[in-house]
Amino acid sequence: MERILITGAMGQLGLEFIKFFSKQNVYILATDIIKPKIKLSCDFLIADATNKSNIDAIVKQNRITTIYHLVAVLSAKGEKNPFKAWQINMESFQNIIEISIKNNIKKIFWPSSIAVFGTKSNLKNVDQDPILNPETIYGISKLAGEKLINYYNKKFNLDIRSLRYPGIVSFNSKPGGGTTDYFMEMIEKLKQGENYTCFLEKNTKLPMLYIDDAILGTIKYMSMNKNKLSIKDSYNITGFSITPLELEDKLIKLGCKGKVIYKPDYRDKIAKTWPRKIKDEKAKEDWDWKVEFGIDQALNEAFK
Ligand code: SER
Repeated sequence: MERILITGAMGQLGLEFIKFFSKQNVYILATDIIKPKIKLSCDFLIADATNKSNIDAIVKQNRITTIYHLVAVLSAKGEKNPFKAWQINMESFQNIIEISIKNNIKKIFWPSSIAVFGTKSNLKNVDQDPILNPETIYGISKLAGEKLINYYNKKFNLDIRSLRYPGIVSFNSKPGGGTTDYFMEMIEKLKQGENYTCFLEKNTKLPMLYIDDAILGTIKYMSMNKNKLSIKDSYNITGFSITPLELEDKLIKLGCKGKVIYKPDYRDKIAKTWPRKIKDEKAKEDWDWKVEFGIDQALNEAFK
């Protein structure tokens, strides 16, 4: 039986992966530095992924075969303390690699992000392999991770895989510390009839992806035979692109009464270095990546 360790499991993605894997015939061990706020359908341990010996012991004791390493300080929070963000993102990443090599871990998943792109990447519609000049510490750590994935895959024949997630849209689990968080925040406030102060400028367009697409896509990608995967670092994937104003219009049409006040801050500057659209042809070609949810279906879920 596959025995999966999920690190950073209390985040937006972790909680959804737990939900998905709970319905499969696999063992799941979730870890995080914060306690679960809800009852989990799997085992859980408090563990800091920057503590290598502790994670190593956990992997051994629980006979882990697969790791979803989701620990990350996201873009906006990262800018508040770049040294800490780099340390958490990269030290935990390096630990997981070393532990995986030592313990013969079969497969590892590590999310990358649209934050690896930059102003030189042709942001109108980014290719799989453009110039990458990330301008946030989060993006720089993701790009470094991508390069290391390629390196470790070759050097140690490790099977570590990665997808460049756009902003993830989810309503049961919440994001934290990201630039794309505005999307969920606006919905939550307007749905309650409250006003929302948006930290992005009204026409700042960003690519987003509904959580079910992200999870199912990731699972499909992880199940592929490695020799089908021509991209050795991280695949572009995307759902839909939207501006805050377009989202506001949709929410008004859905009957929301709250208003949006636009007060762009440093997060808008981050967003302006990210793509408006993403070319995901390689993922479609290599492993049949598909999107089921557009913005309207995602909003239907939010208002269910
Ligand atoms: N959602 C992330 C962020 O906004 C991007 O990967 O930081």
